[in-house]
Amino acid sequence: MKLCMIGTGYVGLVSGACFSDIGNDVICVDRDFKKVEDLKKGIIPIYEPGLEELVLKNYKNKRLKFSTNLKDSVSKSDVVFICVGTPTIKNGNDADLSQIYNVAKEIRSSISKFKIIVTKSTVPVTTGDEIEKILSQKVSKKLFSVVSNPEFLREGEAIRDFTYPDRVVIGTKDKKSNKILKNLYSPLISKGAKYINTSRRAAELIKYASNAFLATKITFINEMANLCEKIDVNIEDISIGIGLDKRIGGRFLRAGPAYGGSCFPKDTKAIATTGDKFQTNLSVIKSVIKSNKKRSSLLLKRVLNILKGKVKNKKICFLGVTFKANTDDMRDSSSLFMIPSLIKKGAKINYFDPTGKKNDFEKLKNISFSNSITSAIKNADLIIIHTEWNDFKSINFKKDVKNKKFKIFDMRNIYSPSKMKKANVKYFGVGR
Ligand SMILES: NC(=O)c1ccc[n+]([C@@H]2O[C@H](COP(=O)([O-])OP(=O)(O)OC[C@H]3O[C@@H](n4cnc5c(N)ncnc54)[C@H](O)[C@@H]3O)[C@@H](O)[C@H]2O)c1
Repeated sequence: MKLCMIGTGYVGLVSGACFSDIGNDVICVDRDFKKVEDLKKGIIPIYEPGLEELVLKNYKNKRLKFSTNLKDSVSKSDVVFICVGTPTIKNGNDADLSQIYNVAKEIRSSISKFKIIVTKSTVPVTTGDEIEKILSQKVSKKLFSVVSNPEFLREGEAIRDFTYPDRVVIGTKDKKSNKILKNLYSPLISKGAKYINTSRRAAELIKYASNAFLATKITFINEMANLCEKIDVNIEDISIGIGLDKRIGGRFLRAGPAYGGSCFPKDTKAIATTGDKFQTNLSVIKSVIKSNKKRSSLLLKRVLNILKGKVKNKKICFLGVTFKANTDDMRDSSSLFMIPSLIKKGAKINYFDPTGKKNDFEKLKNISFSNSITSAIKNADLIIIHTEWNDFKSINFKKDVKNKKFKIFDMRNIYSPSKMKKANVKYFGVGR
């Protein structure tokens, strides 16, 4: 099939590369000229395991193309996927849909034969209705069908998640579009993905309900961890003990920092706002948002306690600053709150991240980037393990940290407290 991905970010690039790999002709379009030029030179703008090989392979065999020409790319395609960003609106909680509606306006003049317009971006319920309205102002309704096909991939596991999804959700009542999209996804369905055809509004809501539920699981276990710290119980025992119940499931039950990233924070806020818009109080989600907001301050307080209130001039090393491992995505990472707060209190921050130096800290004083774990931890008073990269899982702290009085705050519970105790290392975890 001839496909066009509008927006070549995490979702558009990964799904475009994967669709081309299963035999489709894909044009990935972006308005960011540099991004497109880089991609044509084989430079991948994001860190995502396996993506570079997949892009290079399919670009070489000409099934994957890159362009900044939206109109031309849309007119050449049968199925158009909208994969642009839907961030939180400035000074509010709702999703900012300007990128989506701009795309809808821009593509109107390129629809002269039947096309399926698919929203892969996460959009609030009824957005599909709006897109349909915008398109039908200029195009006959016979020439297009607006479908919702939310994406569930996780950064860091995106290619695997796209290729082996638990389910493919297609929101449309149009039989022709359903048939075409089922055919497009048939290589994934034959590998075991469940195919769900539902209404467009239901598909839009499934995505938000999924993310809100996962955010709730994380927040729930984080609150349990707070209780465990008070009663000398190990949160890991609780996660295993409840996770083995199939009704609950063991995933997303690891206590740690506040949830962050490009999806959960904005999507929980957007669905709570949608609830309000339709006079439905989504009180569980609202309290998850509140609890998660408090989480970073709470962990910051723990850092202060670990340092016995003496933060001034303390050398604090962050291992990992992204919102989770295996991604370079800094959006809504808890480090963006914790690092400036510690600097304000007089700390000197040094950090290492496997995906490199971050522009987000460029304007701060008293912060430096080390390009290896050993140089990052060498002179630290406190080492904060902020993300769970494999690179951080077998560090010989005793050998590599020169300051003998160093402490470790392991926010991901990677290391064994008893082994650390035996090694005489002052070690603190979360919920244990
Ligand atoms: N990142 C994830 O893990 C993930 C997972 C599932 C769903 N989603 C959803 O998918 C959507 C995209 O997320 P993302 O993380 O890929 O975003 P992103 O910010 O990485 O990429 C969006 C891209 O769209 C481009 N763009 C914006 N307007 C354009 C236009 N008019 N024409 C061409 N290009 C345009 C931008 O330049 C950017 O490169 C969001 O709604 C998000 O919630 C994201």
